Amino acid sequence: MSLLPILRFPDPRLKKPAAPVREIDENILRLARDMAETMYEAPGIGLAAPQVDVLHRVVVIDVSDTRDELLTLINPEIVESEGKQTGEEGCLSVPGIYDRVERAERVVVRYLDLERCRKTIAADGLLAVCLQHEIEHLDGRIFVEHLSRLKQARIRAKLAKQAKITA
Ligand code: NI
Repeated sequence: MSLLPILRFPDPRLKKPAAPVREIDENILRLARDMAETMYEAPGIGLAAPQVDVLHRVVVIDVSDTRDELLTLINPEIVESEGKQTGEEGCLSVPGIYDRVERAERVVVRYLDLERCRKTIAADGLLAVCLQHEIEHLDGRIFVEHLSRLKQARIRAKLAKQAKITA
């Protein structure tokens, strides 16, 4: 396994939509393992393949306190959503930035697991937020796009400054 470098906002590669996985082969299995390792190491509660510069519809999530409930979703799709919740979100591609975003309270997501089985998960609370956040990444969207233009400009400036300091 290996850690993968995570792209940072506003890298234009984060805006590209990811393609569906056609075959869950050795490359996809390795990608999923590396993404999980990268997410746990960061540490984060979710990671989508475009964040590691791979344009496939693969997501890993673990919202458990014990960090042992890994969910790997291939080609996830939100098939139902209802209600509203607003909570503070962050993103491994936007380090150090947290802000409130409105999301659906409950979602039902269909996906394939690593054994190529069709699965359906119904989620609410934090897991529902995380699913929506990660699936958005697959469509080239980042949570900061839900914020005002002014806030987005401030975030860009702050991250540009951080990049200079660490470069
Ligand atoms: Ni994110």
